[in-house]
Amino acid sequence: MRKRWLLAPLLLIAALAVVIAWLNVRGEAPIAGDAAPTHGTPDQVARGEYLARIGNCATCHGVRGGVPWAGGRGIATPFGTVYAGNLTPDDDTGLGRWSAAHFWRAMHHGRSADGRLLYPAFPYPDFSRITREDSDAIYFFLRTLPAVRQPATPHALDFPYSSQAALAVWRALFFRPGAFEPEPARGPAWNRGAYLVRGLGHCGACHGGRNLFGATPEGGQSLAGGLIPMRNWYAPALTAPDQAGVADWETAHIVALLRDGTSPRGSALGPMADVVYRSLQHLRDDDLNAIALFLKSLPQQRSAASSRKPPDPAQKEAGAKLYETHCADCHGAKGQGARSGAGVVIAPALAGNRVVTMEPPANLIRVIVHGGFQPATRGNPRPFGMPPFGLALSDAQIAALAGYLRSSWGHQAGEVLPQEVARWRGGAGE
Ligand code: HEC
Ligand code: HEC
Ligand code: HEC
Repeated sequence: MRKRWLLAPLLLIAALAVVIAWLNVRGEAPIAGDAAPTHGTPDQVARGEYLARIGNCATCHGVRGGVPWAGGRGIATPFGTVYAGNLTPDDDTGLGRWSAAHFWRAMHHGRSADGRLLYPAFPYPDFSRITREDSDAIYFFLRTLPAVRQPATPHALDFPYSSQAALAVWRALFFRPGAFEPEPARGPAWNRGAYLVRGLGHCGACHGGRNLFGATPEGGQSLAGGLIPMRNWYAPALTAPDQAGVADWETAHIVALLRDGTSPRGSALGPMADVVYRSLQHLRDDDLNAIALFLKSLPQQRSAASSRKPPDPAQKEAGAKLYETHCADCHGAKGQGARSGAGVVIAPALAGNRVVTMEPPANLIRVIVHGGFQPATRGNPRPFGMPPFGLALSDAQIAALAGYLRSSWGHQAGEVLPQEVARWRGGAGE
């Protein structure tokens, strides 16, 4: 779904800002390899490997079944597909000829070794806030990987998005290299949490949403929720108690969610399950606690009450029947969920569940259509799965079911229309 209508405003801005753009493109000549060391101490390398986990670099810079770190994964955006490249130290196709200064320029300034401007599908607006020391550690770790020859896949972008001038305009409007500003009064653990969430963890790349030009609001500082482009998942607001806010959770429950993917208060689903699986479960407890402390401190504001009508009684009745037939065995007749004798969640409670009541109902529809697995983690090594219902049930049936869930057990989130199911079910989801 390319948004061709974006072309007109973008061209207009391009015309107005062509001078800025030109300056931006010319801005910096390529830097020659500097004299800094290319190999780190074992400590630096180990730290770099850990930091790369937090940044989840390997997930984008690798394809399933491919060589890890050698790139090739395409990130779909409304403007086309941008491919993540080879981060192994191969001289011709990877970072072999890069110095630590080149690498810092990519992470902090969003420019490649040859000065090329990089697309923000690479979350450098967030990574920009990491320290030079952390950037160097990641660089030293990457140098220890086996060099793999794998040329980059060319980006598949339409004009004008394929041009460096358009990217220069974009950067002039939306990107400033950042630096993390500690707040000494908050103490070291809070600052560590803020640094990880706003920098390497790039939580805002999903939880901040994107504007029409694909930019995260407030330079990636927003955590106020938004749709993940092209994936039809909604990354809920970390600043709203009825979305993903965890300010009133016990710290141990937040840590459990991030580390195990499941907790007494909620569980990780879809893209968040992937973040837990690939990245967060590998974090040290002190870092998980620091993130929890920071998340707890975020000012909270409830979302506006639902303006949807309640489902009409016949629809709700149809939804109740479908629930009884297809869902109640696992999720319980009253949506209370089910646990094994050992206390492992077999199916989460749906009563009082934010996935059920949230606006938009994207995630609710996606989980019914596609099913899902919680991530396999140390704390939850063999999670239970939810079967997909996208083939067994029609859009109208799923809408009735969703409307029933959203208006039962004290919920007042209103109806869901069949056309909404049609809208949210597709996309490059899982
Ligand atoms: C959400 C996906 C995603 C994540 C996470 C990600 N990258 Fe990337 N990265 C990309 C994409 C896409 C590009 C290509 C951008 C371009 O060519 O304009 C890229 C480009 C780069 C480049 C520039 C390569 C070049 O040839 O200029 C470097 C260096 C890089 N990433 C390092 C990292 C590191 C280190 C991490 C983890 C800390 C990381 N990336 C995490 C998607 C990602
Ligand atoms: C790739 C996109 C993406 C990234 C990156 C991401 N999230 Fe999420 N997150 C989501 C989505 C989508 C959901 C909603 C699905 C769900 O309930 O798990 C979510 C849900 C959550 C929830 C609520 C879970 C619940 O049970 O209510 C919390 C808390 C959260 N994320 C924290 C974080 C933190 C902290 C980071 C950064 C370390 C982060 N997320 C990074 C996409 C993302
Ligand atoms: C075989 C047992 C099973 C059946 C049948 C089942 N579910 Fe689930 N459901 C699960 C499990 C396990 C999860 C957790 C999956 C995950 O997090 O990816 C889940 C997750 C969910 C969630 C997300 C809740 C959350 O907190 O993440 C919703 C909503 C949901 N199911 C609704 C339904 C509906 C509606 C039906 C009937 C059409 C249904 N389920 C049928 C086992 C089941």
